Parts: sequence; structure tokens; C-alpha cells
Amino acid sequence: MEVIICSSGEDVARIAAERIVDAIAGRDEPVLGVATGSSPLTIYADLARRIDAGELDLSRAHAFALDEYVGLPADHPQSYAATIKATVTEPLRMDPSRVHVPDGMADDLIAACEDYEQAIVAAGGIDAQILGIGANGHIGFNEPTSSFTSRTRMKTLAETTRVANQRFFTNGVPVPVHCVTQGLGTIMEARTIVLVAMGEGKAEAVAQAVEGPVSAMWPASVLQFHRRASVIVDEAAAGRLALADYYRDTWDRLPAHHRADG
Ligand code: GLP
Repeated sequence: MEVIICSSGEDVARIAAERIVDAIAGRDEPVLGVATGSSPLTIYADLARRIDAGELDLSRAHAFALDEYVGLPADHPQSYAATIKATVTEPLRMDPSRVHVPDGMADDLIAACEDYEQAIVAAGGIDAQILGIGANGHIGFNEPTSSFTSRTRMKTLAETTRVANQRFFTNGVPVPVHCVTQGLGTIMEARTIVLVAMGEGKAEAVAQAVEGPVSAMWPASVLQFHRRASVIVDEAAAGRLALADYYRDTWDRLPAHHRADG
């Protein structure tokens, strides 16, 4: 794993965006894996700035969201379909017909999950997957004890996740109990993975993911098996990394042309 510790949230976003741009370079129809949550928002803003400056064009790109709540229609303001539309599709000027979110309202959820997996394959697989991380180590909505080989499926949210996400549900609507999420096996097939985390609330999850034993109790630890995964964090989220100085040294000694900040 590449671990990059940044002195500011802006640097986290800028370096993450650089990794993503590198991962899709030369692709006529790049395929992005996109995440909700607050952590990736500054990455999307950085990508939008590049698009506005004419440095990047995602109009032919495809995107697949990680997850969705079960029981919220796409036009519900807290649905991930609505969130992705507002934070990804529109600011990145993507073609809405190429942006996909799992269907949490499908009558046949099992079939819808299978269709979602096949749509990812049909698009050519995910070139660059953006990830946040839950305080309990979840990626997507793969809660502790998720199988490392899991595919897109329905899951029950951990109570801590429902409490953490209550802040988005300001209108008295309870956070749904169930969700549909890409599996850990699905996520691991992305060719490049960029995980970002900010704040001390993520420090334990980041340490377990990067340095802990690979364990289903900390689902993000499966990323230790990925060939091209970058974990980009601020100082607070790096606070429990035993080898933080080593990661800083590694970054400082990287040849300039390998560094996102040039
Ligand atoms: C959410 C999402 C995840 C996200 C995580 C952290 O519930 N399903 O994809 O990475 O929890 O969210 P945040 O970045 O807001 O802390």
C-alpha cells in the first residue's frame, strides 16, 4: 500500500485527484468507482476544477457508486442516487445515463445486484475506485464480518453506521436499516484504489486497515491484498499509524515525477 500523510485536507484532495487522473489517463471511456460520504467531496471539487479549467473531460466516463439505502427512492434527498447526482454527475459534467447507483427499491434485489455486477463488467471494470472509510473500518457499506469475496448484495447496517449517518437525515427520517453495497470482492477488482480519510475519528480504522492483521472485523484491511491501493490521510487520521515516520520518509524521498505535487 502507498500511504501518504498530508498536512492539510486540501493536499489529501489534490493528491487523491492526481492519483485518479493518472489511473484514467489515456482511457477513452474511463470507469470511475465513486463513493458518498463527506470524505470524497473535496476530491470531486478538485476534479471539477480541472474540468472547468479544460484539463479533464469526463463526459464519456462511466461511474458506479458503491452503495445505496434500501427503501429510499432515487429522488429522495438522502438517497445515494440523489447524493451522487448532486456531488458527482452534475459538477463533473458527466452523462447521467453513464452514472449508475445500485437500486435499493428493486422488487427483486438479488437480480438487481447481479445486474449491477454485470454492468460494471460490461463497462470494462473500474479503473479508479474512490473510497472513504467508516470509523468501524467499513468500505462501501461492507460492515465488519463482511466476506472478503463478497459481491454486490443487501446488508444490514451496523448501529454505529446508522448513528454516524443520522447527520444527513435532518428531517426526522430514520436512517434505513438495510442497504445494497458492492462487495469487498467487487471493490478489490478495481485496477486502482484511492482511499481518503480525515480526522481523528478515522485514526483507528486507518491504522487497522494499513497495519493491522487482515481481518473481516476491519473490512478495509482487505486492501492490503490490492496491488495498487493508495491511502491518503491527514495528520489526524494518521494519528495511530505506528510507521507514520516511515511513510513520511518514503514520500519525501520519492522522485519528483512520481509525486502528485511534482
Ligand atoms: C458511509 C458510506 C461510505 C463512506 C463512509 C464514511 O456510510 N457508505 O462509503 O466511506 O460511510 O463516510 P464519511 O466520509 O462521511 O465519514
